[in-house]
Amino acid sequence: MYRTHTCGELRLLDAGKTVTLAGWVQRTRDLGGMTFVDLRDRYGITQLTFNADSDAALRETARSLGREFVVQVSGTVMERQSKNANMPTGEVEIFCSAITVLNGAKTPPFTIEEETDGGDELRMKYRYLDLRRANVRKNFELRHRMTIEVRNYLSAQNFLEVETPVLIKSTPEGARDFVVPSRMNQGEFYALPQSPQTFKQLLMVAGFDRYFQLVKCFRDEDLRADRQPEFTQIDCEMAFVEREDILNAFEGLAKHLFKSVLGLDFSEPFLRMSYDEAMRDYGCDKPDLRFGMRFESLTAPVDLVRGKGFKVFDDADLVVGINVEGCANWSRKQTDALIDFVKRPQIGATGIVFVKWTAEGLKSTVDKFYAPEQLQQWAAHFNMKQGDLLCIMAGGTERTRKQLNELRLHLGDLLGLRDPKVFKPLWVVDFPLLEKDEESGRWHAMHHPFTSPIPEHAHLLESDPGKVKANAYDLVINGTEIGGGSIRIHDRSMQEAMFRVLGFTDEEARYKFGFLLDAFEFGAPPHGGAAFGFDRWVALFGGRSDIREFIAFPKNNAGRDVMIDAPSLIDEIQLKELGITVK
Ligand code: AMO
Repeated sequence: MYRTHTCGELRLLDAGKTVTLAGWVQRTRDLGGMTFVDLRDRYGITQLTFNADSDAALRETARSLGREFVVQVSGTVMERQSKNANMPTGEVEIFCSAITVLNGAKTPPFTIEEETDGGDELRMKYRYLDLRRANVRKNFELRHRMTIEVRNYLSAQNFLEVETPVLIKSTPEGARDFVVPSRMNQGEFYALPQSPQTFKQLLMVAGFDRYFQLVKCFRDEDLRADRQPEFTQIDCEMAFVEREDILNAFEGLAKHLFKSVLGLDFSEPFLRMSYDEAMRDYGCDKPDLRFGMRFESLTAPVDLVRGKGFKVFDDADLVVGINVEGCANWSRKQTDALIDFVKRPQIGATGIVFVKWTAEGLKSTVDKFYAPEQLQQWAAHFNMKQGDLLCIMAGGTERTRKQLNELRLHLGDLLGLRDPKVFKPLWVVDFPLLEKDEESGRWHAMHHPFTSPIPEHAHLLESDPGKVKANAYDLVINGTEIGGGSIRIHDRSMQEAMFRVLGFTDEEARYKFGFLLDAFEFGAPPHGGAAFGFDRWVALFGGRSDIREFIAFPKNNAGRDVMIDAPSLIDEIQLKELGITVK
């Protein structure tokens, strides 16, 4: 037996017990005649003590222990002279009678303490050391708790967890596929699933009624803080449901997670907003509702700005602004910094018009063009009070909305309005079914090609695709898209029409999705579902925006695992077996 207790377990009540512990040396301190060693394992840290009464050889061993040595010690639990109230085991120490070095360790590239690390690359290269840190490990404890709660909740609601294959044929979810060459079928490739979308629909055809799976999905796309090439979904599907049934089912799951994991009660139904409203009022389809600054247009429905000689507004399709409460006293330097922010190439705006309401009244950067009464009208339009600052942007509708959205989020950060402990869930509904790629002129499914139009728009699918709203919904929390789903098409002819609109020939549709079209002819029930980005959800609950902190072995932004050094070259022999030549 390696140990009788863990390093997080012993308390004053245990004083006098003879115990054996095993763990890693966090640090060693030599103070006068005493040697102290902090011994760490997953459960905590316990102090080991050696003094003048200890055997000389034993003390010498203790003194020679390096950081991260793996040791086993036996001794007696003693009350500490100087207690450490910050440590759960801080009232006791082990007076050691034996020590065995189970394994030595090189000096680690960074110390294994809460806040020290060597920067991202080093942390990831030595991720197994990084994961020894308590504050990193707690992210995985949170993830584990959420996994258990998801499984328990859905299982209690009759959802059946079913595993679906990983070597499949491409499922379009908007990204590129990762592909795997087949040795037995040379020249042919599997794709790794971007999601189990078609399989879960087939499980509905199979009569499984309610399915879920905590499942790895793979997408070859540009990476950022909330995107990894392989990530986990809580993937769900239900038969004989309408949109309302699905929103209720998953609002239930979300509320359960809030309650069981964070102790938060959400008694009210989650807010709902249409895609059009979200775009109009926040300039994006995943608004962060932890703070206000809702967009107000100065051009529609009433035009309050055009025709006064200010060309920027006269030529704009949209003039739109936000009221930043209490910021009228911002200095020129501060407002200039906002202009610099929106002028950054990623945002690409030309500037911001400011209106301040100070003790001297309303002042704007466009006073030359607009009389005080006009500024008064704007102020009333924004419900502005003395002390407030208006930020107004102008230009093409979509672009300007996007730019103002960036500014709004930036101001939210600057003003500390995006508290990670506050949660504002929202359903965004009524997305457009399709969007047009301006370059190719082709229609793309905004969600995926299996999403059905809302029933009232089904007849427009081929005649006026741009008008059609999808029976789709997203769960957005604090500006993050946590999940999305839809009611599916379950009728062969409508699915074929959808493929036609997307520019597939009948042959292509049959080659790629014949199995699904066939299945729709064997009694496919009406069905729908959703999938939630589990890594994102855990990160949100953990108060962080970078999902890598919640993935044990993540990839960097170039898609590399720097620890195992993947992707990597493969042997000539392997290539030959696969019938592949690399140029
Ligand atoms: P969707 O593509 O919207 O829908 O994905 C569902 C959720 O998965 C998360 N997500 C990601 N998380 C981390 N890294 C990524 N690269 C990544 N991509 C997506 C997001 C997203 O909301 N089959 C459909 C669902 C359905 O219709 O039922 C699907 O996959 O949180």
